[in-house]
Amino acid sequence: MTNNNPIGVFDSGIGGTSIWSAIHTLLPNEKTIYLADSKNAPYGQKSKEEIVALSKKNVEFLLENNCKLIVVACNTATTNAIFELRRDYNIPFIGIEPAIKPAANNSKTQVIGILATKGTLNSELFNKTAEMFQHTTIIEQVGYGLVQLIEDGNLYSPEMTQLLESYLQPMIDANIDYLVLGCSHYPYLIPQIKKILPEHIQIIDSGEAVARQTQNVLREKAGFNESPDNDPVFYVNSDSTVLKSILENKYPVIEKDF
Ligand code: DGL
Repeated sequence: MTNNNPIGVFDSGIGGTSIWSAIHTLLPNEKTIYLADSKNAPYGQKSKEEIVALSKKNVEFLLENNCKLIVVACNTATTNAIFELRRDYNIPFIGIEPAIKPAANNSKTQVIGILATKGTLNSELFNKTAEMFQHTTIIEQVGYGLVQLIEDGNLYSPEMTQLLESYLQPMIDANIDYLVLGCSHYPYLIPQIKKILPEHIQIIDSGEAVARQTQNVLREKAGFNESPDNDPVFYVNSDSTVLKSILENKYPVIEKDF
């Protein structure tokens, strides 16, 4: 099936580029439009109603740009708004949720840690999924402050190290063998996290799984791009400096209010 329209990807900010990157690697021929709603980041502390309204605003911008499929590259937006998006728009949506399943199924200690936003950990969708793994102890930790530091470009600051140590040490003490990164911003913290965690603790994020799911939905419903036009487009509604640097200045970024 052919469909030369772009894939839309959005996040509360720059973190969803970790998901975008997995999609772009698996599907390099697809044209993508990435939306960083940095003006409104972080979403993690907002109410469900606010997250639904912001997600709809982002979807409408992507639909005006003829997207054939939308990836909600944000755990907070997925766990709070994907039901409303699927109900209100006639287009396939792919969401991301913390990867509890592979962690719980492979854990030897049957203790796993999840670092995510408050909005994700408090959501009904997350709690329903977590309930399915009664045999596993899930240590939940809100990553207060992490998204803001990433949005401000302070990935390697002493403050970041201090926050990460305070969130991860109790998990290490509780004998976790898997750490699930339940926020699309957090893969950018993997080098810093690895310095804190003992080597035997595995880190899991959802990027590759979302990319494979995107490929399946293109195959089954939305169609693949067959045109040579596949340059990615990035939009951000605040200063573009940090987004550009996280993309290693490889792609143009458009600053635009949306
Ligand atoms: N990157 C987002 C997530 O995956 C949201 C972070 C935030 O805006 O709080 O949850």
